[in-house]
Amino acid sequence: MNTQIFNGEIFLITGIADANSLAMYVAKEIIANGGKVICTGLGLSSFHKGLSEKAQVFLQRSYSDFQLAVQQELGHTPTAILDVSLDESMEAFALGLSEQGIKLNGFLHAIAMDKTIRQKEVKPLLEVTKDEFADTMEISAFSLVRLSHFLVKHNVLAEGASICSISYIAAAKVTFHPYRNISIAKAALERITVELADELGRKQGVRVNAVRFSPYMGSKAGNATLHENDLQISDEVSPLGNAAPLDLAREVVHLFRPGTRITGEIRHVDGGYNIMG
Ligand SMILES: NC(=O)c1ccc[n+]([C@@H]2O[C@H](COP(=O)([O-])OP(=O)(O)OC[C@H]3O[C@@H](n4cnc5c(N)ncnc54)[C@H](O)[C@@H]3O)[C@@H](O)[C@H]2O)c1
Repeated sequence: MNTQIFNGEIFLITGIADANSLAMYVAKEIIANGGKVICTGLGLSSFHKGLSEKAQVFLQRSYSDFQLAVQQELGHTPTAILDVSLDESMEAFALGLSEQGIKLNGFLHAIAMDKTIRQKEVKPLLEVTKDEFADTMEISAFSLVRLSHFLVKHNVLAEGASICSISYIAAAKVTFHPYRNISIAKAALERITVELADELGRKQGVRVNAVRFSPYMGSKAGNATLHENDLQISDEVSPLGNAAPLDLAREVVHLFRPGTRITGEIRHVDGGYNIMG
């Protein structure tokens, strides 16, 4: 008897920076369950104009770290550059899928960026500039709308596909560690999830959900934000202790499972942290 969840369905995995990215755990779990993945990473493309030398080196290094991690962890897997700050990058990616006749059965949005958190210190909200606010909102929240837009426009999202993004309890509650400007973007990401669930559900049966995950220091984003002590606090507060990346990956696979009628959900994979006062 075949007990695998997928039968060759193809999922786009965004947000892999290295082997420790949450998105990497999701990619592995999809493959382990009989699915296929296409991975995209931040990198330098022909659409990037007027960048400083430093910014170019950063993008080149990001992409080579991403490719190495994918090669080492997932083996032979299709990869592409995707920068959600550029419409041209998202459109070229969607167009590329269309030209190859690829239809996605869903995608993972695992992208966040907030320049107001530096070396585990956060800027007070009162000091956040319009650009810092808009950049964080664009990359961490609006990108879910925009990427969906281009995939739908080029008809590369299959009927009944499933979209999932990764959120955090800070979308609703003030946290005890640096997380301020980005919490507003996470709230927007969750609201976008609900609105898209309605719009895309009616349009082509596409499901859209988000998962609020425990704090995790293994990734670049987590390491730039959290202290060891922060993880200990949430581990102690959570009835089951902090959830692990594999818990998250299993939940995403569940939400990606073909044919379910789960949509517009904001799930918690956090060891029960959210129920505590
Ligand atoms: N680490 C945690 O504690 C935690 C907890 C809850 C939710 N999350 C969320 O999980 C997701 C993945 O984070 P992670 O912890 O695996 O960190 P990570 O650093 O591995 O992943 C963040 C990713 O965002 C990508 N990114 C940033 N700007 C981009 C752009 N313009 N275009 C395309 N990609 C871009 C980065 O390249 C990177 O791959 C994020 O949404 C994050 O907010 C993380």
